[in-house]
Amino acid sequence: MTISAVILAAGKGVRMKSQLPKVVHRVAGKAMVEHVSQAARSAGADKVVVVVGHGRNAVEELFPAGTVEFAVQEEQLGTGHALMQAMDKVQGDQTVVVLAGDTPLLRPNTIKALLDHHRSSQAAATVLSTQVENPYGYGRIIRDQQGAFQAIVEEKDAGEKEKRVREINSGMYAMEVNEVASALTGLGNNNQQGEYYLTEVLTILKANNKRVEVLQVDAQEDIYGINDRVQLAQAETILRQRKNIDLMEQGVTIVDPGSTFIDTDVIIGADTTIYPGTIIEGLSRIGSHCQVGPYTHITSSTIGAQVVIEHSRLKEAQVGDECTIGPYAYLRPGAVLHRKVKVGDFVEIKKSVLGEGSKAPHLSYIGDAQVGKGVNIGAGTITCNYDGKNKWETILEDGVFIGSNTNLVAPVRIGANSVTGAGSTITRDVAADTLAVERAQQKNLKKR
Ligand code: UD1
Ligand code: CA
Repeated sequence: MTISAVILAAGKGVRMKSQLPKVVHRVAGKAMVEHVSQAARSAGADKVVVVVGHGRNAVEELFPAGTVEFAVQEEQLGTGHALMQAMDKVQGDQTVVVLAGDTPLLRPNTIKALLDHHRSSQAAATVLSTQVENPYGYGRIIRDQQGAFQAIVEEKDAGEKEKRVREINSGMYAMEVNEVASALTGLGNNNQQGEYYLTEVLTILKANNKRVEVLQVDAQEDIYGINDRVQLAQAETILRQRKNIDLMEQGVTIVDPGSTFIDTDVIIGADTTIYPGTIIEGLSRIGSHCQVGPYTHITSSTIGAQVVIEHSRLKEAQVGDECTIGPYAYLRPGAVLHRKVKVGDFVEIKKSVLGEGSKAPHLSYIGDAQVGKGVNIGAGTITCNYDGKNKWETILEDGVFIGSNTNLVAPVRIGANSVTGAGSTITRDVAADTLAVERAQQKNLKKR
């Protein structure tokens, strides 16, 4: 028994005032339509079909190849027409869940409730509804005297009495594929907007004596459709709150949730404390017993356990257990710190590996370097890795001690346990167990 989800996402979303299609706009680190497709998957959908049209390339690029299928709706002739375009992709499946791409707050449990009700009532179609204070703009659920489904009437087609109905169509449905396939063939566009309304499928099914169910839920957030950037920011706030609560329930201390921004897919271990002003993005992972922040910005990085990071920026970096970072460190892509590494204030590390126990405590730039274990890099040390054309590597073997303010002109290798004198500009390789000094002898001249 296959359940597929069809996500309608062909519209432009004029009120976003954007060159991008609406559903590509990001909340909590992910495009709206990605949130919806993930919710569908988590609710048990075996297959996701996204109906694209406006800006279809931008939508298609969001998904790694093969993870979802796409149906193209060249012209946006209505929600019913959009579903028609996807029908050959779901043919042979049993149940299709129809969702919209602009409802990033939708949770798997709400979809599950819809599917459960649909299945247990053996309906041909089930629509998810809710009661709202102000139903303006929504399709209204019209019930008969017994309270059963009768029709959905759009705002523009509604009379006075219908406009007073506060039970609205969420735009989310579960439908039997064979039933909806035959009903769609009877769909017309004889309404105020001249569109093929998906809602009319339910009326057609009902007229054919098929069972149409309404599941009313008290989940207004879940069905909240985003139309403009003010609503986008509201959704952001709600998703952030949910994520922070999730993490706190899993044992993470968040000192000030209001100033902490953690993307949906971030994983953090128990007994880690997140201090105020911290942003953690992308697929970042942070181990347990860490202290992160205040004022730290981490993107797509992996961080071990018992790590301390304050006032720092990390981007595509890997940090081993028991490292200390910051304040004011900058770890750029390809920075790899093994266990117990210290990267201190105003140190920038790019595409470099620092072995266990090594230290760069102050004011350094380390780029394209292989640093062994137990290396001490003195304050002000710079790897001169760029000659204007190419990038070159610096190799510091185990136990090296780099004196303060050393320039390491790459390519260069310093052998194990060697030392460089403070202020040296090292341009040639240094063997193991050697002291390399490169600086003019000091002259002390009498003042005149
Ligand atoms: C629709 C429902 C309405 C419901 C509301 C909930 C219909 C006729 N009406 O109205 O009852 O209360 O959603 O938000 O279905 N789309 C396409 N192709 C199209 C038209 C729309 O892909 O040709 C997509 C849009 O991108 C959007 C979704 O379908 O993601 C809903 O379309 P929209 O135009 O917003 O429908 P509403 O008029 O709001
Ligand atoms: Ca809408």
